[in-house]
Amino acid sequence: MPVTIGQTPDAGFDQPLKLLSDCHRRIEKFLNILIHIAEERRGDALDSEHRDALEAALRYFKNAAPWHTRDEEDSLFPRMRQSDDPRVRAVMKQIDALEDDHVAADAQHARVEELGRCWLVAGRLDTSDVTALRNRLVALRETYRRHIAEEDDMIFPLAGEVLSGSQLNRIGREMAQRRGIDPDRPSPRCRHAQNHPGRAN
Ligand SMILES: [Fe+2]
Ligand SMILES: [Fe+2]
Repeated sequence: MPVTIGQTPDAGFDQPLKLLSDCHRRIEKFLNILIHIAEERRGDALDSEHRDALEAALRYFKNAAPWHTRDEEDSLFPRMRQSDDPRVRAVMKQIDALEDDHVAADAQHARVEELGRCWLVAGRLDTSDVTALRNRLVALRETYRRHIAEEDDMIFPLAGEVLSGSQLNRIGREMAQRRGIDPDRPSPRCRHAQNHPGRAN
């Protein structure tokens, strides 16, 4: 199962809200890869293609996806909380709940990482661990389905309306710096590399 990433060029750091949505597409993509492997192989031996795909997806969620959480919790949400726009005040509890989702998802991902690494090292996964892995992945899929829809369809568009251009610019710069990228260089595009400093995540 080939892993293809970034078939469409991502937005640059000068479009932080678009870039955050691009990151959602990667979360969905790598989660689908994990689910596909768990359901197709069911703990059996992995061929090189499945092994590579499993490693890539685990690496993504361990190393790159946390940047996205930081983008939201440290850059976007705090600026929205500073807004006195009534539309933002109306979704404050929802933003708090989105952060709660991040904590819950982190716990699920930690167990997925543990089980996935076990599978890679041992070459197989026993039935109870396969069930545990699939249950975690299904729970994550349900959480992300709702969570990402709320962010893409409501929170990000609202942020685009209530945050100033300078605030959005600052968010984009922080996103770049978080990834070790100089924001004053031309906007890097996220095309092919996984977990590469030039990728958004
Ligand atoms: Fe989020
Ligand atoms: Fe998000």
